[in-house]
Amino acid sequence: MATNWTAPSISSHKVRDGNSPLVMLTAYDAPSATMAVEAGADIILVGDSLGMVVLGYEDTLKVTIEDMAHHTAAVARAQPNAFVIADLPWLSYHISPEETVKNAAQLIRAGAQAVKLEGGYDRIPMIEAICKAEIPVMGHLGLTPQSILSLGGYKIQGKTTNAALTISNEAKAITHAGCFGIVLECVPSLVGKLITESLNVPTIGIGAGPDCDGQVLVFHDLLGINHDLQPKFVRRYANLKETSIEALSDFAKDVRDGNFPSQEESYQLSEDEIETLGLYGRPDPLKDDPLGSW
Ligand code: KIV
Repeated sequence: MATNWTAPSISSHKVRDGNSPLVMLTAYDAPSATMAVEAGADIILVGDSLGMVVLGYEDTLKVTIEDMAHHTAAVARAQPNAFVIADLPWLSYHISPEETVKNAAQLIRAGAQAVKLEGGYDRIPMIEAICKAEIPVMGHLGLTPQSILSLGGYKIQGKTTNAALTISNEAKAITHAGCFGIVLECVPSLVGKLITESLNVPTIGIGAGPDCDGQVLVFHDLLGINHDLQPKFVRRYANLKETSIEALSDFAKDVRDGNFPSQEESYQLSEDEIETLGLYGRPDPLKDDPLGSW
């Protein structure tokens, strides 16, 4: 792993100090991690969004710590030159601080350099326990997809003064408990701005307006690989679903039309071997095959 980013260097990275915004991208496997790094990402998030994006689940609640460790290890094997954060999935940090630390350690051993968890006041004992185990932890407030059942849907959060103040106070509380940065998801821009101004650690926004200290998007959303969910905050920079289907259809057509593979795409015997083969003629399936098991 060769990245200049560390939890302390990220933790002091504020745009108000003249720094450029942090670029965070999700990645769930080695090729996507390599692409994210070659594109200049500072941080790779092995997000539990992988449950919906690549495992085909309806929400993130089905994702297990084993799933997260498996994908984190795949990302880490690419040796990405970026800081790797892995999501603690639902119920891996809700039961006890001891269990939380063991689960966080599993992701670190899989190759992450930090973990992320969702939630505010309720998470403080877990955040403190993770920090005591010397594992950097990032927070996640606003729309927290693991709370989909209690929130009643993927809705914008912090729309009233009270709700905005609660998120803001929770941001301060989890920072005080030890978070080195906070993802802010789906809150009005002004709320994103005020929370960013009130913290000494960076905020990384997703649907939280332009004033955060960094921005994150889901790899597959940005590239237009998944078209099912299209939240307003997703800017699609490519349409790889369409491009991929076009290419795959061309392959299917070429196979059916007998146009694939060509001789150039096939292996050839040398002239000498073709001549020798000719001496034997066609193998007789009723007799012993003179050419052996080729
Ligand atoms: O799981 C994820 O990909 C995330 C980002 C959307 C921030 O948490």
